[in-house]
Amino acid sequence: MQERIKAILLREPSDEIIKAEGWVRTKRDSKNVCFLEINDGSSLKGLQVVVDKDSFNNNEVLDKITTGSSVICEGKIVASLGGNQKVEMQLSSLTLVGECPVDYPLQKKRHTIEFLREIAHLRPRTNLLGAVTRVRNTLAYAVHSFFQENGFIYVNTPLITCSDAEGAGETFQVTTLDLDKVPLTKEGSVDYSKDFFGKKASLTVSGQLEGETYAMAMKNIYTFGPTFRAENSNTTKHLAEFWMVEPEMAFCSLDGDMEIAESFLKYIFSKCLEKNPEDMEFFDNFVLKGNIETLRHVIETPFAHMTYTDAIKVLEKENDHFDFPVHWGSDIQTEHEKFLTEKVCKSPVIVTDYPKEIKAFYMKLNEDGKTVRGMDVLVPRIGEIIGGSERESDLNILLSRINELGLNPEDYWWYLDLRKYGSVPHSGFGLGFERAVQYVTGVQNIRDVIPYPRYVKSADF
Ligand code: 4AD
Ligand code: MG
Repeated sequence: MQERIKAILLREPSDEIIKAEGWVRTKRDSKNVCFLEINDGSSLKGLQVVVDKDSFNNNEVLDKITTGSSVICEGKIVASLGGNQKVEMQLSSLTLVGECPVDYPLQKKRHTIEFLREIAHLRPRTNLLGAVTRVRNTLAYAVHSFFQENGFIYVNTPLITCSDAEGAGETFQVTTLDLDKVPLTKEGSVDYSKDFFGKKASLTVSGQLEGETYAMAMKNIYTFGPTFRAENSNTTKHLAEFWMVEPEMAFCSLDGDMEIAESFLKYIFSKCLEKNPEDMEFFDNFVLKGNIETLRHVIETPFAHMTYTDAIKVLEKENDHFDFPVHWGSDIQTEHEKFLTEKVCKSPVIVTDYPKEIKAFYMKLNEDGKTVRGMDVLVPRIGEIIGGSERESDLNILLSRINELGLNPEDYWWYLDLRKYGSVPHSGFGLGFERAVQYVTGVQNIRDVIPYPRYVKSADF
């Protein structure tokens, strides 16, 4: 396999002729010498290629090379005289693979992040998106290695489903019917028996329910896949299509769930510091000052814990300062999450035992009959990064919760079966993968940590 530039940069000087392939980031030309910086996405730093124009016999090709061109360079690796890199390539042969005309949008100047969003197909060639892509890759790999090292089984749950896992009605419908033309039933609703699946289907909002069925056989499982929410929220932390990591553990209470969530987050954060030091340094310098220090501290320090009721007591005192004042029963919104993590705890905090009215039907009801064994992990800057709970494992209580919320028990017959056949206490959580990338990189908007962001009125690419 062709050696990547990241590996070439670690070479010692030698007489061996080696080959580097990539895209030209910069070209600095003078009378006798030309410097090309070649990047292939493997590292933040590119390879400096030095062309001695007096001895190089292909100056015509050299003249055609511009920022953005794709090239194959061959030459010796020598010690670099410049301070920016240890080694550089002394060019002996150059192939221009693809020319790049002057209308290439990524010329040397710095571009705004909003402009880069408009050229989502080219933005991975920038330092910022390159670093985000590598850190995202490290996080994804770390997700798998954490669970694999701890004996979890990776399970793939369906993307098309007929049950709304969160019961929040934020689903995207999947249909082959032309809804403008289909005849309606006598009651005036669409007749889905004529549809592809013979019933109303949608894209999944979470793989949890199906994940639970596998936890009831394999004990500890995790899913890691795309999820879809037709959430009409135009914020820096919501997408219509995002990736979620959802472990589910049988014979596990909320305490076990919280313990796993904390060690999981610390593990994946530390992998980024370990495997992407240059990229993390870049974020620290250009995106969020002090981010590395903060992450190190988060990794070393136990997360704070608070019940919802206690959180509300703290927040109520500040009601004058909030856009949305809170009282017992209110949702904890982003401004409150920020207050708790940034001002009160100054660290991530796990909030537990929420009122049942503001959480999903599947969460285990506490003995008080009012709150549920749910938890949210909140982090500074972003707020909720993980949502999870112990699940209701009692058939009758679960049935009454489903009815109470006006959901149709028939849609959940298979889910209810789990409580009938060998039910056990079990728990799990969901990590919003992009929020984890945002947190680790310091990137402010979630739209910049996924290659092709999907949100309201935006699916252009
Ligand atoms: O809190 P949520 O809705 O929980 C669930 O879906 C559970 N079924 C998880 C489980 O227990 N297995 O979503 C989980 C996480 C949130 O904490 C948040 O980080 C992320 O998913 N998330 C989103 N990320 C980006 N865009 C959105 N629209 C998101 N909605 C949720
Ligand atoms: Mg949630």
